Amino acid sequence: MPAYSASAPGKIILFGEHAVVYGQPAIAAPVLQVRAKAIANADPRGSPGTVRLRAIDLGLETTLADLPVDHPLAAVLWKAAAAMQLSHIPACSIQVSSNIPIAGGMGSSAAVSVAILRAFSALVGQPLSDEQVSQLAYEVEVIHHGIPSGIDNSVITYAKPVYFIKGKPIETLQVKRPFTLVIGDTGIQSPTANVVNDVRQAWEKASDQVEDVFKHIGAIAAAAREAIEQGSAEALGPLMEENQALLRELGVSSSELEGLVEAAHSAGAPGAKLSGAGRGGNMIALATPENAEEIARALRDAGAVRTIITEIRTP
Ligand code: MEV
Repeated sequence: MPAYSASAPGKIILFGEHAVVYGQPAIAAPVLQVRAKAIANADPRGSPGTVRLRAIDLGLETTLADLPVDHPLAAVLWKAAAAMQLSHIPACSIQVSSNIPIAGGMGSSAAVSVAILRAFSALVGQPLSDEQVSQLAYEVEVIHHGIPSGIDNSVITYAKPVYFIKGKPIETLQVKRPFTLVIGDTGIQSPTANVVNDVRQAWEKASDQVEDVFKHIGAIAAAAREAIEQGSAEALGPLMEENQALLRELGVSSSELEGLVEAAHSAGAPGAKLSGAGRGGNMIALATPENAEEIARALRDAGAVRTIITEIRTP
């Protein structure tokens, strides 16, 4: 019996997090150095409908029937079965593993969903299209995160840098000249739903003021798109600084993130900002192939538990 395996990358948001939930544009890119992987195996001796699930990083070993239907791992399989109009689920086992930091703003939950959807639908013999995978992963994100914009499932499904506006077809970003970023992980888990909810409360209290911040962030994302498509990575540094100042104003930064941003500046990064929901999780710093190692070292010296050097390019 063949094993069906699929994987999906992590992601970073370069510009526009939070404001994207309110209709502003944002830019995100896949991070290919980290991945979630799913392996689906048919279980010819298993009783019909029994799906054994093993999530190595969560220390979880169970069956689909024993998980609450809204558990993200169960929800993704039930949604896949419904999308494929399966009258019965074949007996099988699904193993999931991931080296994407959990609750770190790098899309671990969406990547796990995408990997499972692809491996499971291949096992069933009805591979889901990218559009279906992204949509179903989005529906699972709704369970994790409340009101996600859809940027995580989109960039992770298509594994390309994207310019994203909620509710609109995604646009692939044409990166004229690849550029280097260093990612620094605070090691602090920060569930996206909590931070998104706090921002919502701030928006409900002072909608005009917070709306202005969102618009300003959207304008930065639009300017960053132009710079990236024209091959002017040097213009991104000041835009990252401006975006970070606005995220600080929204209350989604933290002393740990600020410490890493500061360390990146001291090591020569012309721009740095948090990436994802904030409060903890990851930050990014603009670098060059020449100074990336030095910036990464500075981030680790300032407390980053992990650093990744990545290149943003259109595949
Ligand atoms: C999370 O990666 C990005 C946020 O903007 C939430 C979302 O877009 O759904 C904070």
